[in-house]
Amino acid sequence: MRIGILTSGGDAPGMNPAIRAATIVAIALGHEPVGVRHGYQGLIGGELVPLDLAQVGDALRRGGTILQSARCAEFHEPEVRRTARAVLTDAGIGGLIVIGGNGSLAGAFHLSDPTEAGDWPVRVIGIPASIDNDIALTSLSIGVDTAMNTIVEACDKIADTASAHDRIFLVEVMGRDCGYLAMTSAIASGADMVLFPEADRSENELVDSVVDAVLAVRARGGSQKVIAIKAEGIETPSTRLKELVDARLASETGQQLADIETRVTVLGHVVRGGRPSAFDRLLGSRMGNVAVRSLVDGAHRQMVAWQPPVDAVGGVGEPSSHDPYCHLMPLGVVLDATRELLDGRSPLARWRATIFDDLQDVFLL
Ligand code: F6P
Repeated sequence: MRIGILTSGGDAPGMNPAIRAATIVAIALGHEPVGVRHGYQGLIGGELVPLDLAQVGDALRRGGTILQSARCAEFHEPEVRRTARAVLTDAGIGGLIVIGGNGSLAGAFHLSDPTEAGDWPVRVIGIPASIDNDIALTSLSIGVDTAMNTIVEACDKIADTASAHDRIFLVEVMGRDCGYLAMTSAIASGADMVLFPEADRSENELVDSVVDAVLAVRARGGSQKVIAIKAEGIETPSTRLKELVDARLASETGQQLADIETRVTVLGHVVRGGRPSAFDRLLGSRMGNVAVRSLVDGAHRQMVAWQPPVDAVGGVGEPSSHDPYCHLMPLGVVLDATRELLDGRSPLARWRATIFDDLQDVFLL
């Protein structure tokens, strides 16, 4: 079988280990890996390249994606997906591995939708890769661990200068509409508080909670530094939040505005780059292995999931015979569950929101 491999959407550290493993395993099983450059955008333009062991040899160590990526709004159009199908069938490709986030997996779902594709002979399988960890039914996506480590390392550095100056820092981290990275990195970096969209706080409540954290830190004595992690998904821009917090602090404490040394650090795309952590190398490699072997077994319209939540395993998907830590989850079920996760309806979304409200009290002890 000729097996196409494509990375799409925002890159994530660990995509390269997945490409490398898929390439190696495909060759070892006697199949032919083919890279698609620039995601779906490149696919519709026919950007197919042969993949061999020499090309992927060192890829394991590198962040980003050696196949490059793109966001492709046109892929929402059925006509464009028809072109993509033709490119794959004309190239004799029998299986396609899509490595990417929510939008990329939705692209894979629609590309392979039989009501649109008819009896199109290409099997499609997805690998979740996004630093945001906003894909349901997999406990982790490729890239999350590296991103979390990057944030923690940055916060450790910020804590040094914050301590030296007794300053308040608002640190904004990526994650799109999902607060996962903000929440987990707040715990792992020992931040004083965290703001995340799932809590659905008004602007006033956001200000209240930062000011409460500052006053709690001041009241307990010792280091006066305050690290507040703010998820990108919070609508109030960090600079505006800083101004509101400073104004409130000045009015509540009588401190001069000029003496309040709050600083804002937006980590931005730094969080998405860098060498994949050992765990992301392992996760990408294992998912790449399972994806190829499952395609060869006949799997179609599935996503490789990493240790899905227990309630999901009871109802949908099945354990991979190639790796007991991986499950194959139907793409449609994953996308429905992801919608519920993102709009706050799923039990996991509700748990994430409440646990951090509870933890807030602990943070401020
Ligand atoms: O989905 C990954 C992600 O890095 C998000 O955290 C962020 O909101 C978005 O992509 C940024 O996208 P772009 O690189 O296209 O600006």
